[in-house]
Amino acid sequence: LIGEVSDELGMESYVIGGYVRDFFLKRETPTDIDIVGIGSGIQLAKKVAEKLKGKPDVSVFKNFGTAMIKYQGMELEFVGARKESYQRDSRKPIVEDGTLEDDQNRRDFTINAMALALNKVNFGQLLDPFGGLADLDQKIIRTPLEPGITYSDDPLRMMRAVRFASQLNFTIELESLRAITENKGRIKIVSKERIVDELHKILMSQVPSVGLKLLHQTELLPIILPELTALQGIEEIEGQRHKDNFWHTLEVVDNISRTTDNLWLRWAALLHDIGKAPTKKFHKKIGWTFHAHEFVGAKMVYKLFKRLRMPLNDKMKFVQKMVLMSSRPIILSEDHVTDSAVRRLVFDAGDHVEDLMTLCEADITTKNPKKQKRYKN
Ligand code: CTP
Repeated sequence: LIGEVSDELGMESYVIGGYVRDFFLKRETPTDIDIVGIGSGIQLAKKVAEKLKGKPDVSVFKNFGTAMIKYQGMELEFVGARKESYQRDSRKPIVEDGTLEDDQNRRDFTINAMALALNKVNFGQLLDPFGGLADLDQKIIRTPLEPGITYSDDPLRMMRAVRFASQLNFTIELESLRAITENKGRIKIVSKERIVDELHKILMSQVPSVGLKLLHQTELLPIILPELTALQGIEEIEGQRHKDNFWHTLEVVDNISRTTDNLWLRWAALLHDIGKAPTKKFHKKIGWTFHAHEFVGAKMVYKLFKRLRMPLNDKMKFVQKMVLMSSRPIILSEDHVTDSAVRRLVFDAGDHVEDLMTLCEADITTKNPKKQKRYKN
């Protein structure tokens, strides 16, 4: 239908971006579909909506030159092909009308710059000027333009590169890795909300350590989550060493991610040892200690959430609780008792995750003295 309407308007139109990528990856069909028209995307959207069953509303974002139609669970986003140029201190580009090529040039990665034609004459033709399909095949994240330009133009793309690598288990090409490291400081112009969105996606990927290692390697991690970088390293005094709590944390996150899809448990795993950096001490008699790291860690969780502008709600409290309990015994349900670190805790939690969350809440809120005593124990 979009092709037909485009033909009527004498306009070229294409599906572009994530939909095309996921189509070739045979991932679940995305519900967000980006359509680019060579001309006015808004006009195209309005005409399409008129012909759709039920004539759905068109949300027009005049300032962005885009329009969106919600239809049968899908979000169709229309935009006119454009050329973008960026200023140093902002992610907001200066936009001019452009050709399909201009539009593909402005995209973040080759795998996100592929377009499928919708007009009758070339319906289904793939326009892939940067070899995105080959990059999908070789599992590589590459930028259409020189990487220094792509990442400096829009530093959010540094996080997106890491996130796609983690989600798809792709590698980031070497020049990109270098450019990200060089431009890492520019992450400061990206809003905390966008950074957190990408962190969530990294944590929700199948093997989150892929993304976390890349954040570490590109030196973005100390900017975003310095509490984690501080865990790195092994000290030795009088022949006594402690484990490297950074690499240990990555293992715990991966282990937990095999067991649960619960984002907040994954956050808890990521943060379960953060109190260890500031509490680390060496005692001549007992060796290395991290006394009360759970309490310090739980306080750090609050500060970290606040710094990243994450909501300080019950989810945050849950993560705090998990950190607090990370090396203490805990009752998971009436007949389920476990001991040891979060790793065990969550392994054992399995289907009891919901119980665990309720329990953490109950622990804070219950007025029943019997229950209070039991939870305390
Ligand atoms: N895009 C870009 N630079 C960004 C964000 C997006 O070039 N910083 C382009 C890419 O071509 C991308 C498209 O806009 O494919 C749509 O972006 P978005 O919906 O955010 O991401 P998807 O690629 O669709 O992937 P996902 O839905 O997993 O976020």
